[in-house]
Amino acid sequence: MKIRKAVFPVAGLGTRFLPATKASPKEMMPLVDKPLIQYVVEEAIDAGIREIIMITGRGKNAIEDHFDISFELEHTLKGKNKNKLLEEVQKISNLVDFWYIRQKEPLGLGHAILRTKDLIGNEPFAVLLGDDIIYSDIPVIRQLIDIYERYNVSVIAVEKIDRKEISSYGVIECKGIDDSVYQVLDMVEKPSISEAPSDLAIIGRYILTPEIFTALEKTEPDKSGEIHLTYGLRHLLKQQVIYAFQFKGKRYDAGNKLGFLKATVEFALRRPDLGDDFREYLKGLEL
Ligand code: UTP
Repeated sequence: MKIRKAVFPVAGLGTRFLPATKASPKEMMPLVDKPLIQYVVEEAIDAGIREIIMITGRGKNAIEDHFDISFELEHTLKGKNKNKLLEEVQKISNLVDFWYIRQKEPLGLGHAILRTKDLIGNEPFAVLLGDDIIYSDIPVIRQLIDIYERYNVSVIAVEKIDRKEISSYGVIECKGIDDSVYQVLDMVEKPSISEAPSDLAIIGRYILTPEIFTALEKTEPDKSGEIHLTYGLRHLLKQQVIYAFQFKGKRYDAGNKLGFLKATVEFALRRPDLGDDFREYLKGLEL
């Protein structure tokens, strides 16, 4: 079945970026001049997705406004003949339909995804997390859709991670199937270095079959009341095969400060209108 819908969970509190995220969403922080969430929405659009479901929470209204039509702004740009800017602000709202669902409390990624059960219905769907910004020739979610279309099973994106950092991720135990394709045998959330079953960490891109919803309904919350997607996937594994795909592209963990800074610098250096001047500036820095 074709992947038509993508889910964007954006209801997290963004505590790692406080105080910036006290009154404005982390997803609206810009890399150069574009909010993080727009990079990920564009990835989905470039992969052929035209229906986007955002799971939002308190204080996230700026995201809805960002993807909506802005009559006053568009009218002003038209009046001033700023056609290129006008095209830029209209592009996305013309291409996709957005739905917004509230997660009343941030009770985990699994809990957030479960909120979309009725809107998704009985079809496979994509999930994209805005913390992971990936620079690639082929949109990473497209790479995953291609694997889904070949094998017809849920597919999760994985990346080889330095052992020192593995404890921050969900990690898979797996066996190789094909070039960069693995069958998931088990998965562990944030294992210690010695307990990690591999160096393949789960990254924020997924293609999930609709059976994930019953799996998440069976998933017990942890001590803090959160329902983890990884635990839901472990339930799904009892019922269905899951594959992992080592995607091609450079990922930035924009959900933490150092990752965000690296992404800012590298995206600016790649920009044709800024790259040369910015490179010169960086070379001349004496700190
Ligand atoms: P994170 O835990 O990495 O993001 O969740 P966070 O909670 O926003 O940030 P920190 O850790 O407090 O700094 C991963 C993704 O899942 C979403 C987040 O918005 C993020 O995209 N999420 C998380 C939800 O939508 N709901 C939740 O209850 C938890």
